[in-house]
Amino acid sequence: MKNLVFDVNVVLDLWLERQPEARLLQIAALIDCQRTGTALGWIASPSLHVLEYLAYRQFKHEGADPAEAKQTVKQLLAKLQQQLRPLSAFGFQQDNALLAQTDLEDAQLVAAASVLQGPTAIVTNDKRFATAGSNLVQLKPAEVADWLGQSKPSENLNFVDLQTQQDAIRPQLEQHLHRVLEHGQYILGPEVGELEQRLAAYTGARHCISVSSGTEALLISLMALGIGPGDEVITTPFTFVATAEVIVLLGAKPVFVDIEPDTCNIDATLIEAKLSDQTKAIMPVSLYGQPADMDAINVIAARHGHLPVIEDAAQSFGATYKGSQSGNLSTLGCTSFFPSKPLGCYGDGGAIFTSDDQLAQACREIRVHGQSARYVHSRIGVGGRMDSLQAAIVLAKLERFEHEIVQRQAVARRYHQLIADQAPQVQRLPWPKQGRTSIFAQYSLLTRQRDPLQAKLKAQGIPTAVHYPVPLNAQPAYQHLCCPGCTPVASRIAEQVMSLPMHPDLSEADQHRIVNALGEKQHRGVASPSTLERP
Ligand SMILES: Cc1ncc(COP(=O)(O)O)c(C=O)c1O
Repeated sequence: MKNLVFDVNVVLDLWLERQPEARLLQIAALIDCQRTGTALGWIASPSLHVLEYLAYRQFKHEGADPAEAKQTVKQLLAKLQQQLRPLSAFGFQQDNALLAQTDLEDAQLVAAASVLQGPTAIVTNDKRFATAGSNLVQLKPAEVADWLGQSKPSENLNFVDLQTQQDAIRPQLEQHLHRVLEHGQYILGPEVGELEQRLAAYTGARHCISVSSGTEALLISLMALGIGPGDEVITTPFTFVATAEVIVLLGAKPVFVDIEPDTCNIDATLIEAKLSDQTKAIMPVSLYGQPADMDAINVIAARHGHLPVIEDAAQSFGATYKGSQSGNLSTLGCTSFFPSKPLGCYGDGGAIFTSDDQLAQACREIRVHGQSARYVHSRIGVGGRMDSLQAAIVLAKLERFEHEIVQRQAVARRYHQLIADQAPQVQRLPWPKQGRTSIFAQYSLLTRQRDPLQAKLKAQGIPTAVHYPVPLNAQPAYQHLCCPGCTPVASRIAEQVMSLPMHPDLSEADQHRIVNALGEKQHRGVASPSTLERP
């Protein structure tokens, strides 16, 4: 979304009715841009006192009673602040603003607007307004509609767009981050507790234990279950390496079970054949954002001595399975706040969910070096806390999360339709199964011509990724644990899978561009549909 930063003179024109009526209506509509969803509208904080001073002076000059003039200005400012977002002027920007060869007020506005990531225009009636040296566009109110309507295709698309998201949540981000700087409780501060409460409520789990990464969430969960040398943990080979890595780190053995060709998640019908007396847990992954078949897995686990089930929900936080939230579908659920994840922070972070009080207590202790009371280490633990700044960022992002879920699903639906219509050369993965929603951490498809297709898209500025090119049981560090050919579906999909740019702010125009590039005729790599139909 584009940003509009309003200069004082435009707002004053409206307040003081200094323009013909048609122009005033135009300005009023622009200032209302947030409500109408046409742009993000901003008012810089240094503009507020200037507005107050100039409007008050003018109302008095026109004969208003001073108390009434003050009251009117107050009301106008209050309305403005409801319509426009506050744009901060940071202390560190002021030296440069002072040094600028321009009007200080303009320089402050430019400095404040320059932190915005997306295309940004200063809306001003001042012909001499100085945007020199910045990337900002300078527009009169009458020029804004045209500028908003222009969609200049970006040369290089983002695989994940965190910049647009940052503009959208900037006021909340600044507020949350500055609160941490003020109270100074950088470790396990109030944001951590607040986040845990909000996420537990979101998932419906009794406990949320925030930790320093998704990997740490998995490790701590396994430690809380007492998994160790000689134990086996059933899992999928078609996942990010962290899933199996933590099992091996504890001296246990990952037992890889092949995946379903449609969801790319562990095939529950194959699990029982791999259970042994050593099996101590089952760890499915809800890949690409779609929960694994958790009911089927839980039933098997219950039938075999109530084995604990850990859902690796690193990619699926926000998705649902039969109406319940991913992360709260089994004994323990683990997610990741890696920046590119559907709910990410600006660093590393993760969380564990459980409704088992004892496991929750164990996880809380393990994440702080096994400490049950200050300097009492009742068990072996790790340094696995999530810091308050990262929690503050996730809290800010939570405010947009529901919107992002809807957007991700809309983007995925559009890909699904466009690919069917315009790029039948590539094979779509089926839409999420009945009773499940996906958060579409990835939108992945299959092609036998992956390398040339990726190269062609790259040449057109379209990034792609492969999640994942090699199943874990064929990775050098893991291949001794299970024969590489023992999971044929995972092996085949690893050769063909490819992910397209996916984020909640991906525009329809960019999706058309991506699918057009995919659909160009020279790529005829059709994966066999028969293997991909729903069972
Ligand atoms: C399926 C899966 N499990 C675990 C992780 C590890 O999460 P983190 O990077 O936060 O440690 C990831 C992250 O990419 C993942 O996708």
